[in-house]
Amino acid sequence: MSVLRIEGSYSLEGTIKIQGSKNGVLPVMAASLLHNGTTVLEHVPKIQDVFCMLGILSALGADCRMEENRLVISASALTGTKIPETLAGQMRSSVMLLGPLLARLGQVETSLPGGCRIGKRPVDLHIRGLEALGARVETGDGRIRAVCPAGGLTGVNIHLPYPSVGATENILMAAAGAQGETVLTGAAREPEIEILCGFLQAMGVSVEGAGTPVIRIRKTSAFQDTCFFLPGDRIVAGTYLGAVLCAGGRVVLERAPAGHMERTIATARQMGAQVETLEQGIRVSMRGRPRPVRIETGPYPEFPTDMQSVMMAAAAIGYGTSRIRENVFENRFCVAKELQKLGAHIIIENKIAVVDGVKALKGASVAAEDLRGGAALAVAALAAEGSSFLGGYEHISRGYEDISRDLAGAGAHITLVP
Ligand code: EPZ
Repeated sequence: MSVLRIEGSYSLEGTIKIQGSKNGVLPVMAASLLHNGTTVLEHVPKIQDVFCMLGILSALGADCRMEENRLVISASALTGTKIPETLAGQMRSSVMLLGPLLARLGQVETSLPGGCRIGKRPVDLHIRGLEALGARVETGDGRIRAVCPAGGLTGVNIHLPYPSVGATENILMAAAGAQGETVLTGAAREPEIEILCGFLQAMGVSVEGAGTPVIRIRKTSAFQDTCFFLPGDRIVAGTYLGAVLCAGGRVVLERAPAGHMERTIATARQMGAQVETLEQGIRVSMRGRPRPVRIETGPYPEFPTDMQSVMMAAAAIGYGTSRIRENVFENRFCVAKELQKLGAHIIIENKIAVVDGVKALKGASVAAEDLRGGAALAVAALAAEGSSFLGGYEHISRGYEDISRDLAGAGAHITLVP
């Protein structure tokens, strides 16, 4: 397995072009199956989760062609309704196929999704939403089987008791193929919901309220061929912003979606970074060690849980004591024990991580156990004295096109050792 070798204590200077949004493109790829025609997606990140989704779409009979960051999906002749178990278990987003396949083909079978082990991550809210639209859903022995009534799905009022991102996306995709209007209340407000709704609108679906807790959706015409550009990945951009917090320097993050990074940018400023919004993205500058901070993660527009590990890394090298409360996932502090191998002083008290900043971290061999924890370790190693070796690269490549290319482009001494 490949290992990242990272030399610490070099400040960063330069420009990093931010890849397309992973959590934006995955539901959009699933939604493309609603249409028995062609979808062209631009600025698609070349990451493992996208390749896994391509495998699923192809297994269902779609013709998928990826050239660089351009993806053409022809879904005119779907041949199956079963998601291959080996692929379904590789990522959380395989559950995203439930909605579009129910709407398009009237049935779907998959296994419980995989993804980062950051909590139990049930799918009960997905299932309740699909049942409200008329589907019959059976679960058991790790499988999910869903079938529509003869007349297909029927629009209805649905309330989510928790603003689950994935459940919101699945319900919206199913409702896009239902008869009549669906009003979803308690919807997630993440930028990725706006991306999916923008794509559905481009395909000809009437959607109102994207980004708010109340979304109205109704299919008013046949789906259309669509060309859609994915915005920059707000978490990848936040990761590299965190790299500047840790290593210091001055970096332009091209295509960083500043408008969807408010809490991340505000927190970086509290920690002492200068963050300027530019036409092409943002510029981040940092001198000295980060100041202490209090962070509480929550559903958008609260502080993003996906940024929690990276900010823990920055706090680990900072002044004073920072407190980070994780409210979204019940097991998202795994990275703390690996940061401790680099010399970080972190104590976990139930949902709170108490981080006592240290003057210097020391290079060590550490291992990623989940996607964002792995990225946080790479960022922390930039601030450690000496060499660090980061294993578990297969977790990082699920969401980052080429983290060593990106950071090296800003002056970091980082290489992927096969
Ligand atoms: C999406 O996961 C993202 N993944 C996650 O990013 C992100 O952390 C999360 O949203 C929150 O923003 C993708 O978009 C592929 P949720 P998702 O449903 O949809 C509970 C990354 O690093 N819940 O909003 O799974 C759940 O257990 C990944 O890119 C239920 O109880 O998130 C969790 O505690 C990690 N029942 C909370 O809700 C359900 O049916 C939030 O989950 C669904 C969720």
